[in-house]
Amino acid sequence: MKRRWRGQQDRSVDLSTWLYGRRLPSPIMSASGTSGHGAELAAFVDLSQIGAVVVKSLAHFPNDGNPAPRVGVISTGMINSVGLPGPGVRRWIDEYLPDLIRLGANVVVSVWGRTRADYITAVEQLVPVASHLLAVEVNVSCPNTEKGGEMFGHDPKETKEIVRAVSQTCSLPIGVKLSPNTDRYIKVAEAALEVGASTLVASNTYLGQVLREGSRKPVLGTKSGGGVSGIGVLPLSLRIVKELNKAFPGCDIVGVGGVYSASDALAYLFEGASAIQVGTATFIDPRSLHKISEELKKTIKEQGVTNLKDLLSIKREFLSF
Ligand code: SIN
Repeated sequence: MKRRWRGQQDRSVDLSTWLYGRRLPSPIMSASGTSGHGAELAAFVDLSQIGAVVVKSLAHFPNDGNPAPRVGVISTGMINSVGLPGPGVRRWIDEYLPDLIRLGANVVVSVWGRTRADYITAVEQLVPVASHLLAVEVNVSCPNTEKGGEMFGHDPKETKEIVRAVSQTCSLPIGVKLSPNTDRYIKVAEAALEVGASTLVASNTYLGQVLREGSRKPVLGTKSGGGVSGIGVLPLSLRIVKELNKAFPGCDIVGVGGVYSASDALAYLFEGASAIQVGTATFIDPRSLHKISEELKKTIKEQGVTNLKDLLSIKREFLSF
């Protein structure tokens, strides 16, 4: 059983935001794949006070993932080729979901598959516990599968069929985790929105390769490279969020990539995101979700308001940054 976090938090500021049709206590969420499959961060942050826990992508089958090393550190963050290891949806329901429910977390389940049928089966398995979930995040953009860069999320038609199938299988709100590794992300997003997705999650990691210093050897066990994340990708994902917001005004967007501070989070909110996912920062400091939330509350107070909505409506520059 996971220990509940018992630290200090400022309750005088309202960070709430709307996403997936629900009022969430905060726009700060965990990013899929960066804090395990369940309540792993419970000792470092009050999971009931963040926007949501997005669990590492699950398939309907257990999966071993890629050979080690699976992550490498770079000056601007990290590269990973983890390969979507996981217990499978059924075991996850038995072994991981109970702690998340007990700790009061809003739970978003990320799902993946090698075929459209895999996605359907994973979501069918979630249906009996749907009342405990906030949403499904459809991961069509993992760069670390056998097919490498050839992912569903680079093809509007494939994405459409997967999202359509998911929306016909369950009534949970659907987010789509977009790939930044294609110039077609607007088309892919449009296709997903047409068949039932409500939320665009932008974005997954950036295809990359890192060699050991002074060597021809890749740092990752999968010699072909992996996905790059961290502070260096913030401007790249921020631009994607901006373009999605322009193409789909009013659509819910979740900004992901390189959020290490409240000012990084605010950049996404200013460009039209309703929420932000924090990933790589958690590897540096597992308390990042808590720290960024508290920093955001401090900024709200410094600007003389008491809630996030009012902060976002302020038009003058925030001089303290
Ligand atoms: C992985 O497990 O390899 C990363 C998952 C992802 O980027 O979607």
